[in-house]
Amino acid sequence: MTASPVLWILGSDSDLPHIEPGLEALRALDIGYDVRIMSAHRTPDDVEAVVSSARSDGVKVICAVAGGAAHLPGVVAARTTLPVVGVPVPSNLSGGLDSLLSIAQMPGGIPVGTMGSNKGGGKNAGLFAAAILGVSDTRVAEALSTYREKMAEGVRKKDAAVRASV
Ligand code: RP5
Repeated sequence: MTASPVLWILGSDSDLPHIEPGLEALRALDIGYDVRIMSAHRTPDDVEAVVSSARSDGVKVICAVAGGAAHLPGVVAARTTLPVVGVPVPSNLSGGLDSLLSIAQMPGGIPVGTMGSNKGGGKNAGLFAAAILGVSDTRVAEALSTYREKMAEGVRKKDAAVRASV
């Protein structure tokens, strides 16, 4: 069975709300995804098994989501040469600065493309995964362009509304 092109791996189900906007973006772009809850420290063998076979299963991009001592994205990247998008989940420490630095500060050799730990991080992970797919999939690239045109149109509508009201 061929897997969906985007695989999300979350360290905990408590991370789900942070990535919902990214899932929504993928749905809007008609891109398939799977979501797994697997932890680098609670279920490390499961992470290794799923990530090791991801490429042969048909996965093209992995979004790895974690908070706090967020080693999951690095562990995932160590087991695959697929692009890994790291998503730091906000924690109680300075809005997730620990998560962000844990994921962004990978030692040279095993890269993780790191999103922000801000509100937009989960959404941008989905959009960045789409951009990676768009390199070799014209339909996805065109869908992304349309998505941005709609976003721009939304901003222009707000601009018009504000100008009319002030
Ligand atoms: C990390 O620890 C998870 O990614 C989550 O962000 C954080 C807290 O997990 P829970 O205690 O809510 O399961 O591994």
